[in-house]
Amino acid sequence: MSTPSLFEPYKLGPLNLFNRIVMAPLTRNRAGSDLVPSPFAADYYAQRASAGLIITEATQVSKQAQGYQNTPGIYTPEQIAGWRPVTDAVHAKGGRIFVQLWHVGRVSHVDLHGGEAPVAPSAIRAETKTFVNNGFADVSEPRALDLEEIPGIVEDFRKAAANAIEAGFDGVEVHGANGYLLDQFLRETANVRTDAYGGSIENRARLLIDVTATVVSEIGAQRTGVRLSPASPASGIVPSKDEQPQFNHVVEALDRLGIAYIHVVEGATSGPRDARPFDFDALRKKFRNTYIANNGYDLELAKSRLAEGKADLFAFGHNFIANPDLVERLKSGAPLAPLNPATLYGGGAQGYTDYPTVSG
Ligand SMILES: Cc1cc2nc3c(=O)[nH]c(=O)nc-3n(C[C@H](O)[C@H](O)[C@H](O)COP(=O)(O)O)c2cc1C
Repeated sequence: MSTPSLFEPYKLGPLNLFNRIVMAPLTRNRAGSDLVPSPFAADYYAQRASAGLIITEATQVSKQAQGYQNTPGIYTPEQIAGWRPVTDAVHAKGGRIFVQLWHVGRVSHVDLHGGEAPVAPSAIRAETKTFVNNGFADVSEPRALDLEEIPGIVEDFRKAAANAIEAGFDGVEVHGANGYLLDQFLRETANVRTDAYGGSIENRARLLIDVTATVVSEIGAQRTGVRLSPASPASGIVPSKDEQPQFNHVVEALDRLGIAYIHVVEGATSGPRDARPFDFDALRKKFRNTYIANNGYDLELAKSRLAEGKADLFAFGHNFIANPDLVERLKSGAPLAPLNPATLYGGGAQGYTDYPTVSG
């Protein structure tokens, strides 16, 4: 069998992708006060539509789900309408786009919730910061969710998935990574519940699996992906001793649901790939559909991991910010432009839609 190429088309369920390169989800904090995507978002994503698949910035499933200022939602009619130009612009270029569905849980601030505490599996504050009031601030002390509130959160994800299809997305990625609500439930260091959603590995995985099963029942398994970051300390996640069996169990359960892909952040998000020991190949082997690998990939590493059969698609994060034509640059060997850290979070078109392509 010949070695597959990163630059050849790939079939993701019913979707034909241009290539095996994915734009990773990237929060840019440019939504308006009603959390409608910015008017520049359609241009921004369309400029990057030569990726095989775009995964949008994390997008709230409800008001309660918000943890940072000016991040978009997908739970009001105005937000749904605000995403439509984005999906239309990407599709006009033949691209494919999933929206990443997000609930931040405890990674939030009282100022985003009228003075009320953010919600979490347990009342354990994360040692991390959020971006609020135009600066970084410690996250607030959360309150533990009542058991009776959990079906409402599952329902918010269901509605958001339906809204995503209405807005023209090709599918959704459930954000189970980076220390946000669904990841918090998975961790014994963030979840000390004694009900059906805490304690055992199975119980801690229940919310993520319930949410994913509900999204699948709403929009179909082939339009559903899940992002995981098993060995990442992102957003104040404290390592626990059972990470490997925990995530082995999660991936087995996701495989049974038949979802289109798992998207795995290998190592510390935006940090070392070998931050702590974890066998990512074990997850790959437990999952029959597409495995998207992310974190610290460059062309050489992606090529070699593809040749070894370790992943099917490769997601690039920060390199897509300053290189809208990243696919073409990787293909031609053109140098990659550095991003400007000052314009990452918030603002308008500057540092967002004004990065040039090689061809101008
Ligand atoms: C500015 C910025 C924003 C990010 N926003 C998100 C996000 O909304 N959702 C998410 O799952 N990961 C987010 N990430 C993590 C990236 O998707 C990715 O995992 C990380 O950058 C590592 O990939 P890379 O080495 O190719 O950059 C963000 C990273 C950066 C740099």
